[in-house]
Amino acid sequence: MSEKTMYEPDPGAVETYRIRDWQTLEEQSRKDPQAYWAEQAAELQWSKPWHTVLDDSDAPFHKWFVGGRTNIVTNCVDRHLEGPRKNKLALIWVGEDISKVRTFSYFALNREVEQFANVLTAMGVGEGDVVTIYLPRIPEVVFAMLACAKLGAVHSVIFAGYSADALSSRIADSKSRIVITADGSWVNGSVFPLKDIVDEGVHFSATVENVIVVRNTGQDVAMDPERDHWYHDLCALPIARGRCETVQVDSEHPLYLLYTSGSTGSPKAILHTHGGYMVGVHTSLKQTFDIRDEDRWWCTADPGWVTGHSYLVYGPLLAGATTFMYEGSPTYPHPDRWWQLIEHYGITTFYTAPTAIRSLMRFGEAWPSRRDLSSLRLLGSVGEPINPEAWRWFHQVIGGGRCPLMDTWWQTETGMFQITTVPSMPLKPGAAGRPVFGQEAEVVDEEGNPVPDGTEGLLLLKNPAPAMFRTLYNDEQRFIDTYWSRFPGRYLTGDAAKRDEDGYFWIIGRTDDVIKVSGHRLGNAEIESALVAHPEVVEAAAIGLPHDVKGSAIHVFVVLRTDREPGKELEEELRDHVAKHLSPIAKPDGMEFVDKLPKTRSGKIMRRVLRARALGEDEGDLTTLEE
Ligand code: PRX
Repeated sequence: MSEKTMYEPDPGAVETYRIRDWQTLEEQSRKDPQAYWAEQAAELQWSKPWHTVLDDSDAPFHKWFVGGRTNIVTNCVDRHLEGPRKNKLALIWVGEDISKVRTFSYFALNREVEQFANVLTAMGVGEGDVVTIYLPRIPEVVFAMLACAKLGAVHSVIFAGYSADALSSRIADSKSRIVITADGSWVNGSVFPLKDIVDEGVHFSATVENVIVVRNTGQDVAMDPERDHWYHDLCALPIARGRCETVQVDSEHPLYLLYTSGSTGSPKAILHTHGGYMVGVHTSLKQTFDIRDEDRWWCTADPGWVTGHSYLVYGPLLAGATTFMYEGSPTYPHPDRWWQLIEHYGITTFYTAPTAIRSLMRFGEAWPSRRDLSSLRLLGSVGEPINPEAWRWFHQVIGGGRCPLMDTWWQTETGMFQITTVPSMPLKPGAAGRPVFGQEAEVVDEEGNPVPDGTEGLLLLKNPAPAMFRTLYNDEQRFIDTYWSRFPGRYLTGDAAKRDEDGYFWIIGRTDDVIKVSGHRLGNAEIESALVAHPEVVEAAAIGLPHDVKGSAIHVFVVLRTDREPGKELEEELRDHVAKHLSPIAKPDGMEFVDKLPKTRSGKIMRRVLRARALGEDEGDLTTLEE
């Protein structure tokens, strides 16, 4: 494969893209970001126009499209019912057993959403109430999210791979009264018992009154007659029938909470709002992926993560495109499952994570080459840096060398892409690209001074952006401290990066103790507290180490009670313990038993020293070490 470091756009294709002269748009949007965002927002429906694009008088608590009223569902569903999109497919869903297919036109999607919104209304859900959604990749997750949004309620989707403990702490933090789940989910041919996990997770909950259960896998589950209801029974009740108006809410009305990991403490709830998020997500998909009416868009992310929120559910529906959802994994039962689905359903745009590409590369080109992938016109990558080798394989073998590959850098916090490309830009394998229109980014040293191009430093965003989170729910001080206080006026991303002489940003990775494992965001603190919850463990430290496929692997150091002997059996037990108490995605890859952990005199674990030890590198300056 060629080792080209720059891919110029095909001039013929550029003619067809929405954005051809990106240089001018970039320049203008940076000169007057507010005018640029006002123009974008005007493409969407508002029941009351805003009077001020951005109110930054109480920064960093920014308000966007002030005075405006709308609802993201008005723009994702309702407005498409008024024209020819009414009968076009909004959602194609394929089960892990691919003979199971469910399709929904915009008309049918609306019917499902109205029905379920009527059910929620009858249960007393209204504006501002938080509803927890713990569902696998099945259509009901989309219906549930949209039904909440339609009523002005706030959804809190929790990845259906998290444990009962993780679920219960998130429910307690959000004080949610309703949980929507399924009997189980399919994972590589086996059932993952979601309902059992919910039963355990809500057992001691002070708030949960109702649990709604979707029949998905069909196995028997215990149903508490006081608390649990089958989704299909509720939707068959007379209360579910009839129209349900989309509640018009203030632009700044909360849309969802999404818990994500930080480097310290418990996971934090990122809060996104209707107006700004809607405008940002809509704009980003339109520009970066040139999304069109006829697109069949496939984002492989799970709705439990922000990528699933913005680009599996909201973004493609805002665009009036067809979103494709697959329940299963890419390698089960064979490593060509995704390629088979792209061929069969004529997917045009395919957005996935580098870890998936790296794991599929290992199976060789024979699998994709047996499939006709000519429907593809654009590719995308998200979640972690994509190494040039994986970039070229994806571009060449999957995209046939003709599909521009957009590497999109963003975060749960930013809601939408912040650094990426548009298809008419030259592409550089391994570089995320340029700040999106209306945004500026910089790389600075520890004191906040910009560093020269080519030098690594801390990545900051300079401009407020409409889809940015508004705060950390229940924790405004942490919002200020984590993101805004170190370099006032600029947003601290937590990533290290460097900018090259063409203004392209190369993301290096996290500078804090967040570990990206297969693109999933985990905090060292969560893994450590799962470990110390085991009776034999006194103390633990978790770090990320480089891994060829997963990006990072979790490596833990464990201090045991003095009377306990380390060994393989205990190691396995601790791994399973983390899977059970946090999530199978957090299972440590490597484990070392140690007598004590290196700490500073103030008692902070020196992860830098542990990392150096694990990698066999120089441990550096040890003067602050405890002894
Ligand atoms: O380190 C960056 C990495 O993922 C982090 C955000 O994780 P999360 O909130 O889970 O959101 C993931 C999906 C948006 C970032 O701080 N990251 C995300 N996208 C990229 C990336 N690193 C390099 N390149 C990317 N394209």
